[in-house]
Amino acid sequence: MKAVYPGTFDPATRGHVDIIRRATQIFDGVEVAVVRSSRKELTFSAEERAALVRGSLEEAGIRVAAVTIFDGLLVDFMRSAGHTVFLRGLRAISDFEFELQMQLMNRKLDPGITGLYLLPSEEYIYLSSTLVKEIASRGGDVSFFVFPCVESILRERMAR
Ligand code: COA
Repeated sequence: MKAVYPGTFDPATRGHVDIIRRATQIFDGVEVAVVRSSRKELTFSAEERAALVRGSLEEAGIRVAAVTIFDGLLVDFMRSAGHTVFLRGLRAISDFEFELQMQLMNRKLDPGITGLYLLPSEEYIYLSSTLVKEIASRGGDVSFFVFPCVESILRERMAR
């Protein structure tokens, strides 16, 4: 069975990669789907975010079926790519409410779609891309949170 892991990945962190690693151990094929636009103000373009996902996975030695950029609704992308399962990481209880809403809304849009949830390792449970960017912008060490390819571009981008 295959599954899709959608997200903003602005940028990908070791927490995202931890979820992808777990997913590849369960599913035959995992596709990472990078959403092009978001309600959030984005630091990296969709192409940069996808490249950083690919770079992080390469540095982690993880193979996925594809890293794709999608626009529009997740359910439409899933239908066109032949996916019925999407994966999400659940870090803290605060994630639950958003994920509940997203799952129920997606099911309403397409009842054939199911979301499954994976817990990251505990060292990544408090991690978010926003926090990583904030630490990098103030000159902090983010090597524990992101892979080297992300660290170097973050240092350069945040210095601007
Ligand atoms: N480790 C570390 N951080 C993690 C993480 C993990 N395992 N899982 C999530 N996060 C963080 C992300 O870094 C991100 O942090 P930020 O808010 O500081 O940037 C935050 O948690 C949430 O990010 P993400 O998992 O990328 O979710 P999202 O809310 O940005 O995106 C989509 C969710 C893309 C799946 C959703 O918006 C979507 O489907 N969009 C398409 C449009 C659509 O269909 N809308 C209707 C939905 S019902």
